[in-house]
Amino acid sequence: MAKSSRLPGFFRRTPQERRREVQAFADLTDEEIAALDSGGLTLEQADRMIENVIGLHALPLGIATNFQVNGRDRLVPMVIEEPSVVAGLSYAARLVREGGGFHATADPPEMIGQMQVLDLPDPAAARQRLLAAKEELLQLAHTADPVLMGLGGGSRDLMVRHIPSSPVGPMLVVHLAYDVRDAMGANAVNTAAEALAPRVETISGGRVGLRILTNLADRRLARAWGVVPKEALGLEGLSPDEGVQRILEAYAFAACDPYRAATHNKGIMNGVDAVALATGNDWRAIEAGAHAYAATRDRGGYGSLTTWERDADGNLIGSIELPIAAGIVGGATRVHPAARVALKILGVRTAAELAEVLASVGLAQNLAAIRALAMEGIQRGHMKLHARQVAMAAGATGDLVPRVAERLVAEGQVRLDRAQAILAELRGEAR
Ligand code: MEV
Repeated sequence: MAKSSRLPGFFRRTPQERRREVQAFADLTDEEIAALDSGGLTLEQADRMIENVIGLHALPLGIATNFQVNGRDRLVPMVIEEPSVVAGLSYAARLVREGGGFHATADPPEMIGQMQVLDLPDPAAARQRLLAAKEELLQLAHTADPVLMGLGGGSRDLMVRHIPSSPVGPMLVVHLAYDVRDAMGANAVNTAAEALAPRVETISGGRVGLRILTNLADRRLARAWGVVPKEALGLEGLSPDEGVQRILEAYAFAACDPYRAATHNKGIMNGVDAVALATGNDWRAIEAGAHAYAATRDRGGYGSLTTWERDADGNLIGSIELPIAAGIVGGATRVHPAARVALKILGVRTAAELAEVLASVGLAQNLAAIRALAMEGIQRGHMKLHARQVAMAAGATGDLVPRVAERLVAEGQVRLDRAQAILAELRGEAR
């Protein structure tokens, strides 16, 4: 029987109880559960990952519930230091679930490798020669990685852009579109670009400068959309139609103002990055791609990655499109023990499925943020979580954490000295 990601009361459980629920959902072994302690990474493994290692840095790993993407329920692992993100995402996923869940698609996993060609006496003619040799160049890049070729990946297309003027004069930029299958693919596409460079020099008569992927991976877009029944938005003293309207107004702000769009998109990336980090992916690459795409996809300048509209029945309908260069093999995805477990929890079988989930997460995180901002003001939600942290900082444990936090919120004073005083009072009562 298909398992449900709808886990009522999950947030009220202890971390140990939540582990058991997630273990059952994702069929995790005890060993895999153990890898969730401090990320499961040893100092020796860390020392092989980067340079000059002196320790390990832990962050909270949380689970967002309620996700349904293309009819399949998913629990979504997130690594993030910011309160309210996991709770907001779970809440928004529930709203979209009521409208049938997320529908998502992903382009084939094609990365673009760039080669910068300089010192060209006749760039226009060189461009024509390179285009005439396209099949030969594609074949050369294709055979650069026999393993990838065997998996059905490799060269897909070659484009040549002419940049007539730059601070160092004209240049050509050769783009190699390269299918990297289930990897994020930076290494594969960089290697292919390197392999191509000498032949590009010979054909063009120029000199190849940089050979490196672009993070504006706009051949690897993922899209998600979903509907929120308007009844789900009739809250906080607003009618359903007013609730929908508030969200459309919040979206309109981001759609027409880059200052707001930056923050709106930051909220989207709160979710996308947290899942990318949990699964061992290069979240900076995804960040770079998302913002560059938001700035280049239409002529209006930097704008919102999401769109919110009202459908014919008055319900809210949202969509997102962004490049997602994320993989399920290579990099830290298989090296980092907790990343491996996160991928198992998520249950994705291909990089494309991961991209579909990430796009859905971005859309849901945006809904969570603009709903909270437009309908209740973000500070209120933040305050509750902040109060819990202050209660813990004051020394509260177990059920004293929510009790102290509730009092702090009720008093409207979330301060350490008040938390200490309330804690002393409650402990006194208990004696
Ligand atoms: C905070 O990390 C993210 C938000 O600012 C996003 C937004 O304003 O849409 C709440």
